Amino acid sequence: MIKRGRLIVLEGGEGAGKSTHARGIRAWLEQQGREVVQTREPGGSPLAEAIRGVVLGDWLEGIDATTELLLIFAARAAHLHALIRPALEQGKDVVCDRFVDASYAYQGAARGLGSDTIAALERLTLGELRPDLVLLLDIDPQEGLKRAKRRGDENRFEAETLEFMGKVRAEYLRRARAEPARYAVIDAARPQAQVAADLRRELEARL
Ligand code: TMP
Repeated sequence: MIKRGRLIVLEGGEGAGKSTHARGIRAWLEQQGREVVQTREPGGSPLAEAIRGVVLGDWLEGIDATTELLLIFAARAAHLHALIRPALEQGKDVVCDRFVDASYAYQGAARGLGSDTIAALERLTLGELRPDLVLLLDIDPQEGLKRAKRRGDENRFEAETLEFMGKVRAEYLRRARAEPARYAVIDAARPQAQVAADLRRELEARL
């Protein structure tokens, strides 16, 4: 695939404000004359959104970590097929609220499935495609979970322990530090306007 658009991903733990800032980034890119598709994971296409409903649902029998991982990657494959790859090929920028780094952080590290497992599924699902830029909204899990609860749309993950969220955060930061050219870490505990200004600065400097 000759990729012409850019894939820009927002990542972070619960309550980091990704959705709000995704809208701001889209508006900024449009001001630069770009055509932009804003989307999210798990989900982003009709089939992938249906899988999202399954994976975030509360099942009496529970969902084991492997089922969760495979559902998330099934949703990702559908999303890439239906939305992300076509948009990039048409030269559009794609702004995605979470992507494969979330699988490294949540399933690989916090659920303990390991990064080799995620890397294998990443190769299968993404091929050579990688985000052009990952904006990591970093926040202390305690503060993040408080914000997520205030927002009032708790899902299965937001009910997880602080220890779980600590592992998510540590893995995000580890991946960002390992590849600083492709990742920007932004302190998301500060007021929204300051976070938005930092994001804009990163976009101006890196894209
Ligand atoms: P959201 O809170 O950003 O809407 O995402 C829903 C949940 O899905 C979030 O709590 C984290 C989880 N998730 C994973 O565990 N692995 C993934 O690869 C993705 C994309 C999301």
